Amino acid sequence: MSNQTERIIIFDTTLRDGEQSPGATLNVDEKLTIARALARLGVDIIEAGFPFASPGDFEAVEKVAKEVGTASGPIICALARATQGDIKTAALALKPAAKPRIHTFIATSDIHLEYKLKKTRAEVLEIAPEMVAYAKSWVEDVEFSPEDAVRSDPEFLYQVIERAIAAGATTINIPDTVGYTTPSEFGALIRGIKENVPNIDQAIISVHGHNDLGLAVANFLEAVKNGARQLECTINGIGERAGNAALEELVMALHVRRHYFNPFLGRPATSETPLTNVDTTQIYKTSRLVSNLTGMMVQPNKAIVGSNAFAHESGIHQDGVLKHKLTYEIMDAQSIGLTSNQIVLGKHSGRNAFRTRLKELGFELSESELNSAFVAFKEVADKKKEISDWDLEAIINDEIQQVPELFRLELVQVSSGDHARPTATVTLRTPSGEELTDAAIGTGPVDAVYKAINRVVKVPNELIEFSVKSVTAGIDAMGEVTIRLRHQDRIYSGHAANTDIIVASARAYVNALNRLYSALAPSGRSPTPYLTTKKQ
Ligand code: KIV
Ligand code: ZN
Repeated sequence: MSNQTERIIIFDTTLRDGEQSPGATLNVDEKLTIARALARLGVDIIEAGFPFASPGDFEAVEKVAKEVGTASGPIICALARATQGDIKTAALALKPAAKPRIHTFIATSDIHLEYKLKKTRAEVLEIAPEMVAYAKSWVEDVEFSPEDAVRSDPEFLYQVIERAIAAGATTINIPDTVGYTTPSEFGALIRGIKENVPNIDQAIISVHGHNDLGLAVANFLEAVKNGARQLECTINGIGERAGNAALEELVMALHVRRHYFNPFLGRPATSETPLTNVDTTQIYKTSRLVSNLTGMMVQPNKAIVGSNAFAHESGIHQDGVLKHKLTYEIMDAQSIGLTSNQIVLGKHSGRNAFRTRLKELGFELSESELNSAFVAFKEVADKKKEISDWDLEAIINDEIQQVPELFRLELVQVSSGDHARPTATVTLRTPSGEELTDAAIGTGPVDAVYKAINRVVKVPNELIEFSVKSVTAGIDAMGEVTIRLRHQDRIYSGHAANTDIIVASARAYVNALNRLYSALAPSGRSPTPYLTTKKQ
């Protein structure tokens, strides 16, 4: 095998490293929904999880392997520390995948060896090839990562990599685990590996990096120029601490600046052959899906997918763009799938028109999902005359959330005003099927609603983030509410959209509480530890 592929391989780790963001926890069905979207996006590899970490992770990797890891689908990868237990568990979870990959890792920096692993360099030099060979006894496709490679002694790193390749690793991934490196240093490290590891031509060089100094994408692009051919990244750049390198930024940088990057891949500078397999028109939709399901908001000025990324505010810019787009735009909003806000449907639109437009937008819903989405659409259409693509997307993202509805919001009513004390009444259906009503006074209408809901649900929690944003312009716009709450050091997110922001706020809160509640009471156990007092 050669480490010079003709294009860049995109390895998506949204479901593994991305899911390690505080509060981004996804359930199995949500992971499956994202995995399907990643397959549509055209990523080459999906790192679906860390099966040894928990039974939930195992189940998610197994389901993704079965449903998305088909012969024509992406490679499905599972993470494993360099131990037999981890590797065997990863192999078992990957069994249904047509193209399984085990990604095993062990740290190589002295800091990690001394304080975390309590192992010597000599021991790591033994363990790495032994565990690669063990992984190879389960699957053909083995990736090896020397964790904290950036802070490792390069000479030692070269030796570990050489042994891992000799034992059968076909991808060598170089992680900047702590987001410490700079572009020229990282480029030099990749070049050093190419020049000093004798068997490096038998493996693809991959890079993985965190964004602690905001340099992850720049580091990766420099790595590409020096021989890296696989990029490990996440949608919206979510991940541990400051996150991982953002997939959309890497893909669009390689797309927009293809003439600059082509020669580094041995192509003529003017070649128009895409550098990645990603269908860029799926980027925006995938970004929104990941943001809604993880509750990790995308900042408005985020490159590529932020709401301001294609907006021109200044008069000079607007004038220039109207005269010729290229004056201030380096890429077209449509290239990431950001369609103009077309008014497509209204309250008289039938199921067929609804289904057809969803199909055109790339949503594939089951019959039952379509039915409930259609009911939600009619409710919105009753209040809002014109339904745009963005409204449709908000409705669908709301409907396809896979959180078990343990508590269901049946009614929310508020009274507030500048001379009134904000008061809310809510009725919730509980997991046992009874309807409980309670009321509360708050500092504002949303506070009152949340206090009333808390009086019913009785799970102590702290609201740490609340945000509301409108889906489209106009007085009748739908509002999208995203919240994050903390319970016993864990963070849970909730999301909902509605034309009434108080209703959206209430539903987002119940959504987060349902996530919390299902985490407290995994399937099979009664989820009622906090429901002590019955109310009429
Ligand atoms: O950041 C890191 O080093 C990792 C490894 C497991 C690749 O996520
Ligand atoms: Zn990482």
